[in-house]
Formats: sequence, structure tokens, C-alpha cells
Amino acid sequence: ASLAAVDATVPGANRTQSRLTEVPAPPAAAFANTPDTDSSLPDNIRWAHQIAARIPTSELGLAGIAAAAVHTGDEVEALIAGARAAQPAWHGAGSAERARVLREVARNLSAHRGELIEVAAVETGKSLDQADPEVSEAIDFAVYYAERAEELDRIQGADFTPATLTVVAPPWNFPVAIPTGSVLAALAAGSAVILKPAPQARRCAAVIADLLWEAGVPREVLILADVAEGELGKQLISHPNVDRVILTGAFETAELFRSWRQDLPLLAETSGKNSIIVTPSADIDLAVADVVYSAFGHAGQKCSAASLVILVGEMGRSERFINQLKDATSSLRVDLPTNLAAQVGPIIEPAAGKLAWALNELAPGETWAVTPKKLDDEGQLYSPGVRLGVAEGSRFHTTEFFGPVLGVMTVPTLEDAIRVQNGTAYGLTAGLHSLDAAELKVWLDGVQAGNLYVNRGITGAIVRRQPFGGWKRSAIGAGAKAGGPNYLFGLGSFTPAAVSV
Ligand code: SER
Repeated sequence: ASLAAVDATVPGANRTQSRLTEVPAPPAAAFANTPDTDSSLPDNIRWAHQIAARIPTSELGLAGIAAAAVHTGDEVEALIAGARAAQPAWHGAGSAERARVLREVARNLSAHRGELIEVAAVETGKSLDQADPEVSEAIDFAVYYAERAEELDRIQGADFTPATLTVVAPPWNFPVAIPTGSVLAALAAGSAVILKPAPQARRCAAVIADLLWEAGVPREVLILADVAEGELGKQLISHPNVDRVILTGAFETAELFRSWRQDLPLLAETSGKNSIIVTPSADIDLAVADVVYSAFGHAGQKCSAASLVILVGEMGRSERFINQLKDATSSLRVDLPTNLAAQVGPIIEPAAGKLAWALNELAPGETWAVTPKKLDDEGQLYSPGVRLGVAEGSRFHTTEFFGPVLGVMTVPTLEDAIRVQNGTAYGLTAGLHSLDAAELKVWLDGVQAGNLYVNRGITGAIVRRQPFGGWKRSAIGAGAKAGGPNYLFGLGSFTPAAVSV
């Protein structure tokens, strides 16, 4: 679709009144959807252009995932046995060698950025503005875990023994960064890995596995196993010869895994119901931009997404905040990723159950500041919605919806806001917009979430700088955070050396 066509379908799409959410339109040539021969265009526009032209016919990952299909229980057994048999050589090669391979992986991911973006777009609807940083994150994981692998050798006084076999069960919503990061962490630690793709992101997993093998990860050590959900999946996940399971997904999935095997060594990053507090001292332009991006990037389908904004005191009476929030939300470009300017992509599953409720119904006392609208017959594209008047303890306050809807609550004091922010079963991300140091201190003392952000959006944790992990129902298993200094330690065990006195 051309930019003009999109603008015509989205209410208020031409209005970008919050200067911070305004995205400059790329050159018209970038949207022509025809093969690009203009070498004067910047490289990123040219490859993006090629992605869009290729999306309808892309075959990336199809052959790889077909080859990885697992049909029988015997095959599951053979894969597990094979991976375990291959692990000692991988571990024995030493962490310097594993780090070298991971740096090759970083180079290869970087060389194939366009393909990774393409397959994420084709398979999961991820728009360019979301998929591009995700590839960067995957590359960062490779470099970072290479360094952490080298560090394992330098830890004095203890031997680190990696898990022999780690199963990685990633989600579909970060189909590049999360499988890549989880697999590379386990490989860096010296474990063999079976990657079981999310059903909605199988082709992405196949492309990732290919790039890792090509960079030097032995095929026997990283196995791509497209195991169907159900009995075969259960057999793999709960197998006694699996030493670690890295899951990123719904809390309910983690519970299901645990019901299959009670002593399951699970490292799970699960659901979230996240909010941003905005106090009267906040920079409104910045706060609105961060709230909108955190709420509606990837159509809100992130465990880290902002689902609620909590306005404190005078800020709750600020017409300017609400008006800018309305304008910025209405200005977002909602489209399929073939539109390279899309800022809000499709929802990956039909809106049913709680998401259907969140998109269509209000609780008593709530009103729409921006009403979400279905934009296509398929029900994949929804313009984002903002509901006002969300009450503490209400359905919207406590339920994770995983879609493009944001609630607004007003409270008298910062202490009230912190109580509301903590008042869910989850504790994944939390934000504060404030320019007052005393408020910051009060917040830091009271907030309960794994990932805290001040005067910044609450999605898009950066490897090394913002290690990512949850609290309460947002995490299960050892507490080490992905992209942080201790993560590899959870993928094996330490044997203390004999202590001489
Ligand atoms: N790491 C992602 C983020 O920070 C969520 O998985 O948004």
C-alpha cells in the first residue's frame, strides 16, 4: 500500500502534533514496491525496499523448517541422544573457541540483516521499525555472550559445568532476538541446544539456525526441531535428559510445562501487565512519545509493552497530556509491513477473548479517548485505542491483553500510583516519567518490577545496559537476567574447588 492510501484509512493519520512521535516520511521511491536499481539511495532504504518487494513471494525459511519437521516420538529420542552425544566436544573445545564462533555468528547475522527482517515481516507481520532493532539486539547478544563465555574461564576457585542439553522454546513476538539470544547463551555456556520454534515463527527459527550453522556452530550441537505442540512437544520439554528449558512465553505455558515435569529446570520469562507513571514534573512531550511507542509498537504485542499510563495529581487534570496522547495515537500509521513506514503492524491472532473485550468494550466509568477501529476485513489491522477512566482493581488494570489498547488512570499521589503499578500479579517492566529527584527516590524504593525505566520507554531493553528479566508472575526459575552478567551461570552449575584452610 502506498503511504497516501494508508493515510486515508487511518483516522487522523496526517496529524503528528506531538513533535517527538513524528516520523519523517522516507523518500517516496522507497514505497514503490518494485525492484530498486537506484544506487543513489542509502543502503538501508534500498534493502528495505527489496524486502517489501519480496514479501509476497518470500521463501525464506521454508525449506529449512520442512527439513526440521519431527513426526514421531522415536525421532524426539534420537535428537535428544544425538545432541547429548555431541555436547562434550563443544564444551571441550573451550570457551575461547566458543566465543570465536559466537563472534562469527554476530558477523553473519549482520551480513544477513535484510533477510532476518524479511522473514520476521513475512511470518509475524513485524514492521521495519521493530524488526530492524531486533536484529541489532540479536547481534548484541552474540557479542555479549561471547565475552561472558570467555569470562567463565577466568572465574577463580570454581569449575563451571554447563547443562549438557538445553531446550529453547521462544515466543513469536520477538522472532529473531529472543531465539537467537537464548540459543547463543546456552551455546556460550557450553551446552548443546534443541531449538523448538514458536508455531507462528518457525521460518524465522530456520533462518536463524542456518546463519548460526554457517558461522560455525556444529549442526549436531544446535538442532532445529519443529516439534508440534501436544504429545511430542510434551515429550521433548519434559524429557528427563533435558537439563534446562529456556522459555519465553505466557505464564500459563510455564505452568503447563511445570505440570508435565515438576522438577523441570525452567528459566522462564513470562507475562507482564506494565504501566508508566507520569508525575506533574514530567516533560510531557517526552512522556507522550515514550508512552505511545511503548504501548503500540508491534501493536502492543510485547510482554514489556505499556498497557496503562498512571497520571499523578495535576498531570491527571492536564488537558495537554491527554490531547497530545490522543493526537499522537491517532497519527500512527497502521499497516502491513509491506508499508515500510508502518508504525503499528497486524495482530498475529484474531482478536478473541480478552483482547476482543479490550478492543471493543468498556467497563462502567470508562470512555474512549481514541476508539480502536478494525481497518481490514481480515481483522488483522486495528488502529490503536486509548481508554480513559480505568479504575484500580478493574479488569483493564490487572489483565494482560497483548494488543493495541492503552488505558489511562488518574490518581492523587505518587504513592497511589506506585500501589496501582504494583497491583497486578506480574512484575516485568515499569516506567516513571518525572524530573524530580525526590519522586525518583520514592519510586525506586516502592516499585516491584524486574525492569525499571526512568524518562524512557519501557520496551526495547538493550543488551548489557539493561539486562532483562521479570519478578512475580513475570518470571519462573533462577533470577538471572538475559543480556546480563549472570545469565550464563544459570545454564550450568558451579562446583566449588576444595577450600584449604
Ligand atoms: N526484551 C524485550 C523488550 O525489552 C521484551 O522481550 O521489549
